[in-house]
Amino acid sequence: MRSAAIFAAVLGLPTALASSCPVEDNTIVAHAGTPVGKEEVHNNVTMYISQPDEDRRRAKPDTAVLYLTDVFGLPLLENKLLADSFARAGYLTIAPDLFSGDPALGDINVPGFNTSAFLANHGPEVTDPIIASTISYLRNELGIKKIATTGYCYGGRYAFRFIAQGKGADVAYAAHPSLLGNDEILAIKGPAAIGAAENDGMMPPARRAEIESLLGQAKQPFQVSLYSGTSHGFGVRANVSDPVQRFGKEGAFYQAVRWFDYFFYH
Ligand SMILES: *[C@@H]1O[C@H](CO)[C@@H](O)[C@H](O)[C@H]1NC(C)=O
Ligand SMILES: *[C@@H]1O[C@H](CO)[C@@H](O)[C@H](O)[C@H]1NC(C)=O
Ligand SMILES: *[C@@H]1O[C@H](CO)[C@@H](O)[C@H](O)[C@H]1NC(C)=O
Repeated sequence: MRSAAIFAAVLGLPTALASSCPVEDNTIVAHAGTPVGKEEVHNNVTMYISQPDEDRRRAKPDTAVLYLTDVFGLPLLENKLLADSFARAGYLTIAPDLFSGDPALGDINVPGFNTSAFLANHGPEVTDPIIASTISYLRNELGIKKIATTGYCYGGRYAFRFIAQGKGADVAYAAHPSLLGNDEILAIKGPAAIGAAENDGMMPPARRAEIESLLGQAKQPFQVSLYSGTSHGFGVRANVSDPVQRFGKEGAFYQAVRWFDYFFYH
């Protein structure tokens, strides 16, 4: 008997229901290998596009995941592989190049890299139009009707910004968001979930509590999950040789997929 069937039997569930649950399918996450998507330029934005296979796409035809990267952007292999994992979960997934070919260096601690200058050059006035162009491409050229944002560190803030009124996305997930403002939380008009790291200078426990309170005030469905033994960045750049970090990274991914599946297909 397969493990899903055993699980179903123990819980008294119909087997078909239990085995169709994507959350139990651990083969959709890839931590290593070659990206399967491709980069294309649309609306003057370079986009990494990862397509589900036909069977999976048929099950989720009108929805897409808009993947908003950390400061390392598209050159970081883990970003492309994680976008591919969302495609294997059935979602057409597009990650725009948020930095117009000029992402942060591999390690923001390298001498000479000025993080405050980098962030000052990539504020909402620069980044919002790139994301808006990507949403326009998804909706107007690909006919996508519902969009989920998933954002990591730098991109987490934008995952929230784009479920505000009239911004074009419907549901959001953010792992360890950086610089997420109170006003940006209060402005959400769709469900929002967060995956938080135990050790995160950008979101220490007191800030996490504030964010939870603001989510309550925003009056939208929300979920905040805290992963022990993890640090800022774990949703993308975890050391997957360490079982604790691997669990956190996969947990954050499945948390996002379940969140999107629930609000799009429940
Ligand atoms: C296209 O994007 C580049 C930045 O990557 C920008 O400098 C340029 O002005 C844009 N062109 C148009 C026509 O929007
Ligand atoms: C980093 O950039 C900021 C402006 O964004 C500037 O004020 C500061 O002097 C720079 N630091 C260094 C070490 O160059
Ligand atoms: C990753 O985790 C493994 C297992 O805990 C450890 O042996 C290794 O040193 C870690 N690698 C880095 C770069 O921290």
